[in-house]
Amino acid sequence: MECMFSHWLNDRLQLRSLQLTDANELFALTDQNRQHLRRWLPWLDRTTSAADTRTFIRNTLDQFGDTGGMVAAICYDGAIAGVIGYNHIDWTNHVGYIGYWLSATHQGQGIMTSACQYFVDYSFGTLILNRIVILCATHNKRSRAIPQRLGFRHEGTAREAEWLYDHFVDHEIYALLRRHWEI
Ligand SMILES: CC(C)(COP(=O)(O)OP(=O)(O)OC[C@H]1O[C@@H](n2cnc3c(N)ncnc32)[C@H](O)[C@@H]1OP(=O)(O)O)[C@@H](O)C(=O)NCCC(=O)NCCS
Repeated sequence: MECMFSHWLNDRLQLRSLQLTDANELFALTDQNRQHLRRWLPWLDRTTSAADTRTFIRNTLDQFGDTGGMVAAICYDGAIAGVIGYNHIDWTNHVGYIGYWLSATHQGQGIMTSACQYFVDYSFGTLILNRIVILCATHNKRSRAIPQRLGFRHEGTAREAEWLYDHFVDHEIYALLRRHWEI
C-alpha cells in the first residue's frame, strides 16, 4: 500500500506524494527540461525513458516506506511542475537532506521557496528531525537563494563534492537547526 500525502500551498499549488502512475508525465517533463536540469543534476543521462523515471519513483517509495520520508510532486494547476524531497534521511542523527528541481517555465514565482518552507515545517514538526541540509553547487545561484531566503546558515564548502558528467563541482553546505526554526 503506497502512502498518500497531499497538501495545498495555495489554490494553484499542491504538494503530493509521487506515485508510480506519475512516471509518464514526470518523464515527459524531465525530457522537455533536459538541458535546463543537466546543468546541475547528475542523473539526466541515465534517465532516457519513462521506465527509468518509474524506477526512480519505485526506489523512493521503497526507500521511505511508511517512515514519513517522501519525495513529492509539485503540481501547478494540476500538472507536475517539479519535484522536492529527501535525498536521504539519517534517522540515527535526525538529519534530513533535501533536494529539488523545477521546470524552467515554472521558475521565478517563488514556487520552490514555498515548497521548501513546507518541507522545513514538516521535517521539524512531523518527522522531528534536528537538522536539515541543502547542498548547492557553488555557481548554482538560484538554488543557493532558496536556503538563504529560508534562514539556513551557510556552514562552508565541500570541495569537489559532486561529479557532473565531465567535471567536479564544489558544494555549498546550508543547514537549519531545529532550535532556529521559526513557524
Ligand atoms: C533551483 C530552482 C528550483 C530554483 O527555482 P526558482 O524559481 O529560482 O526558485 P523559486 O521557485 O523559489 O522562485 C524564486 C524566484 O521567484 C521570485 N519570487 C516571486 N514571488 C516570490 C515569493 N512569493 N517568494 C519567493 N520568491 C518569489 C524570486 O524573486 C525569485 O526570482 P529571481 O531569481 O528572479 O529573484 C530551479 O532553478 C531549478 O530547478 N534549477 C535546476 C535544478 C537545480 O539546480 N536543482 C537544485 C540542485 S541543488
